[in-house]
Amino acid sequence: MHSLYQSTSPPIAVLAATAATFAEARTYQDNATADTDTLKTWWHGTGEVNTKTAVELGNVRQSHMYQIQVAGASDARDFYNSFVHESIPRNGNGKICNPGDSTSLCDVDDQITIETVIGADMAWTQYLADEDSIVKIVRSDGGDVDPDNVVIRPTTMDFEVSTDGEALFIAVPFSDTGYRFSVEFKDNLWEYRNAAPGLRQGYVQNVDPSADRYVEAFDDSVPIVGVEPINALLIFVSPFPEDQYVPDLSEEDTYEVPQGLVTGLDELAESKVYFPPGVYWLTGSTHAILSESVSWVYLAPGAYVKGAIEYRSQASHLKATGFGVLSGEQYVYQANTAKGYTNIKSDLTSLRMWSGNISNGADWTIHGLTTNTPPFNSMDFHANDLETISIFASDYKQVGAFFGQTDGIQMYPFSHVHDVFYHVGDDGIKTYYSNVQVERMTLWKTNNAPMVQFGWYSRNISNITVQDVEVLHTRYHDQSQLYPRAMIASAINYLDQNSTSNANTEFTVSNYTLRNWRCEGICPGLIGVNPLQNIDTMRLENIWIEDFGDPSTQVGVSTFRVFTDELRGNRTVTLGAKSPGGIGLAIQDFYVGGEHISFEAGNWDVNSKGRIDFDEHWSGNWTAM
Ligand SMILES: *[C@@H]1O[C@H](CO)[C@@H](O)[C@H](O)[C@H]1NC(C)=O
Ligand SMILES: *[C@@H]1O[C@H](CO)[C@@H](O)[C@H](O)[C@H]1NC(C)=O
Ligand SMILES: *[C@@H]1O[C@H](CO)[C@@H](O)[C@H](O)[C@H]1NC(C)=O
Ligand SMILES: *[C@@H]1O[C@H](CO)[C@@H](O)[C@H](O)[C@H]1NC(C)=O
Ligand SMILES: *[C@@H]1O[C@H](CO)[C@@H](O)[C@H](O)[C@H]1NC(C)=O
Ligand SMILES: *[C@@H]1O[C@H](CO)[C@@H](O)[C@H](O)[C@H]1NC(C)=O
Repeated sequence: MHSLYQSTSPPIAVLAATAATFAEARTYQDNATADTDTLKTWWHGTGEVNTKTAVELGNVRQSHMYQIQVAGASDARDFYNSFVHESIPRNGNGKICNPGDSTSLCDVDDQITIETVIGADMAWTQYLADEDSIVKIVRSDGGDVDPDNVVIRPTTMDFEVSTDGEALFIAVPFSDTGYRFSVEFKDNLWEYRNAAPGLRQGYVQNVDPSADRYVEAFDDSVPIVGVEPINALLIFVSPFPEDQYVPDLSEEDTYEVPQGLVTGLDELAESKVYFPPGVYWLTGSTHAILSESVSWVYLAPGAYVKGAIEYRSQASHLKATGFGVLSGEQYVYQANTAKGYTNIKSDLTSLRMWSGNISNGADWTIHGLTTNTPPFNSMDFHANDLETISIFASDYKQVGAFFGQTDGIQMYPFSHVHDVFYHVGDDGIKTYYSNVQVERMTLWKTNNAPMVQFGWYSRNISNITVQDVEVLHTRYHDQSQLYPRAMIASAINYLDQNSTSNANTEFTVSNYTLRNWRCEGICPGLIGVNPLQNIDTMRLENIWIEDFGDPSTQVGVSTFRVFTDELRGNRTVTLGAKSPGGIGLAIQDFYVGGEHISFEAGNWDVNSKGRIDFDEHWSGNWTAM
């Protein structure tokens, strides 16, 4: 198999030991956690195992499926508990549209259909390790943990696994960029299938005859469009944070938030807000608006905050750090802050988990945090000039994004985003600005929008690199010309969605590179472009796709349409060849199912393995090597 990543660390010696070693290991049965210089785990005393409804305010949803303990390799006899969280579709609230009102069901499509019926959920745990570590996983259902029944994704992780009785052990070498991986059991997979071949067919289920979208039996007439664990399990391993990411609680300028209902953050005089381990909530009809003095929010490991955070600070450096969780579980889908947090979509006022109206030239650093179950776009800032602000995101995680409109974070000019995991419903990596670098992303994509989006408006952007990306899962229903599903795509003009004459030929997308991508399982096509501006020097290099799935869904078809600029004399957009030495679109080292796709091999077109179906107008402006 084509492999981009090789683990450079040697296997952990302790795993080479026999199962007997593990049998001797001391395992703490209670809530003992590790807190040493090289290993830190944490726990919630108010874990609530509940797969159906909202949990109590002071409780944290705990996995009904997995128990995890972790040992440092330096003392592999001691396994410490690491709390396993769980997110369920709609947070157990049903399809409600008014916060806290279980009777307020409404018919807004939230893009969740069979997920609640099949019992899909997402568990995750995280810990800090400055040494090799060993993860011990026990399935609460007593299920098979034999290594033959286990797949770790990305499969290039190549961790050593072993088993002893009911426990699975995974050896995780130290990494200074951490790990974000999925542990999957082959007896716990769901094949997402469309109701019929072709486009615009939703998923079907064979679990509950009384529920929607039931079919008695699955056969070839209901094509598989994705395969995922029913009870997903993600493991996030991070190195201990540098000092710059941890405020000093004893400093006068730091406000320590009391556990429970959070109030008054808009009236603080301090510059730092510190959430110690514990559970906090805002309710589903408010969020945390920070006073102008606050520029740094810290969620300690073990801090679980049910709410969303908005900055009002005009400081030039803003921060959000710590290994805590910011959870949107109390909010309804698309919670509109201008309409009592009800489910009424607004691009302007639907709640972002992270937002702020910040000053020109400011930057925002987010490190370590996990955003759980966002109700809408996970983050957008306002500023008088968005072209002047930047973000620096690292070791950031987004989980439980079962709702549809759950984008990744915005990346303003000169942003650097790296070592990030996204479970994401909508546009994942949003490249709307110039001079952006994105690396070491792990994506788990549900059924809408591309992995990387650069459309919706005509853009004049350049110098964008998105590299070293691992896609663990996708489950697209079908392909769409206007809203292409692909590794990278640009949607049509947001304000005038049926027209192909609303491009701006004074703008160019240039010096844009996607490099070193792997997509496991059934994947969308390489690229889908509605060019709303000229495009020059776009490189797609070293992209490996495992499989495209059923051809009738057209998932896998790459498109590149022709647009014109009516406002400026009906000029046609150009692809490449404008600047000296400028190239159009160069596809290099593109593999589908192990096969190298190229002009030379003649396997690129829509009827061949590569499924590339560009308008012939572009012939000569792109290459596949
Ligand atoms: C651990 O359990 C003990 C006894 O049940 C309890 O007093 C303590 O608060 C718990 N600690 C945590 C971190 O949950
Ligand atoms: C952001 O703040 C500026 C003043 O600094 C104000 O002019 C602008 O209207 C605010 N924008 C939003 C969306 O609140
Ligand atoms: C390209 O973008 C990167 C990432 O923001 C930046 O470091 C670099 O300076 C940019 N290059 C130019 C020529 O602006
Ligand atoms: C775009 O076209 C589709 C059918 O092709 C139509 O249903 C839809 O209303 C049109 N939208 C707009 C904004 O004109
Ligand atoms: C587009 O961006 C380029 C490079 O930053 C700049 O030189 C050019 O003036 C911009 N074009 C327009 C129409 O703004
Ligand atoms: C694209 O990159 C080339 C080579 O680094 C540089 O000469 C050119 O100015 C860049 N174009 C833009 C629009 O940034």
